[in-house]
Amino acid sequence: MSTTARWATAFAPASVGNVAIGFDILGFSVAALGDRVTVSRTETSGVTIAEVTGVAGQLPTDPAQNTAGRALLAMQEALRPGFGFAMRIDKGIPLSSGLGGSAASAVGAVVAANALLPQPCSKLELLKYAMQGEQVASGSLHVDNIAPSLFGGLVLTVGIDHPRVKQIPVPEGIRAVIVHPHMFLSTRQARAILKRSVELSDFVWQTANLAGFISGCYTNDFDMIRASFEDVVIEPQRQALIPGFQRVRLAAMEAGALGCSISGAGPTLFAWALAKDAHRVLEAMRREFAAASIGIDEWLVDVGADGARVVESG
Ligand code: HSE
Repeated sequence: MSTTARWATAFAPASVGNVAIGFDILGFSVAALGDRVTVSRTETSGVTIAEVTGVAGQLPTDPAQNTAGRALLAMQEALRPGFGFAMRIDKGIPLSSGLGGSAASAVGAVVAANALLPQPCSKLELLKYAMQGEQVASGSLHVDNIAPSLFGGLVLTVGIDHPRVKQIPVPEGIRAVIVHPHMFLSTRQARAILKRSVELSDFVWQTANLAGFISGCYTNDFDMIRASFEDVVIEPQRQALIPGFQRVRLAAMEAGALGCSISGAGPTLFAWALAKDAHRVLEAMRREFAAASIGIDEWLVDVGADGARVVESG
């Protein structure tokens, strides 16, 4: 008799993609919210989505059109386990918020399905299946939400076909402020407006910032983190999509933030701050959104959260 589970529920955390300077390659997990995905074995192969509940409204239940469904289809096709998957998705991450909701559903699906396999896959294999799902949502393959949701913490991914994943240490005492304005911004739309080429001087500046940020994290150098925490390529093109962006960012920086930028494709904004400054930064961001009459959800979190995991099985 098989000892593997017949069903499993996984929790996959939200995430902040790009982290200002690592467009499509850097992200950190946010455990305060996430998606729960339950996957059960079925007699016949294939993937079905029984229901989608939670905060996401209407999402497709055709597996080929759904991020979690597509991830499980990719897994089925590669592994041919001899049984099928039926899935229920409970969304805890608002749709089109820039908090990695589509990635979390895909990650939750593959982590739950993995618990049903006689020979479980490695996290790197799961990453590749989940990436197929993310492509449905945004139209392109990128890993800056998938990798942190799966692995946890601040995560750098190098490569797409053969991804290499590195969890970057985050200095003690850094907290993240997350502010989600009540509006929708599709990742597809926020990607479509981006120019296809980058000025050489901006390329140099952004490269220096990414290198400075990562080295600052490894060496607990807050001055380096603050100096390099600036996106000179993507943020200037996207900020017009988020009402009040400049004022909120400026207020966060004046309140002592190490950096403040767009979370993923937006409209959520995030800031990093030392613990002693974090509440002041949050208040400053809250105040500016209120002045613009924009409602928000807010979170103050640690950056080193755990990645996706099975929370129940039977
Ligand atoms: N890194 C991608 C972007 C997706 O900014 O378009 C973030 O979710």
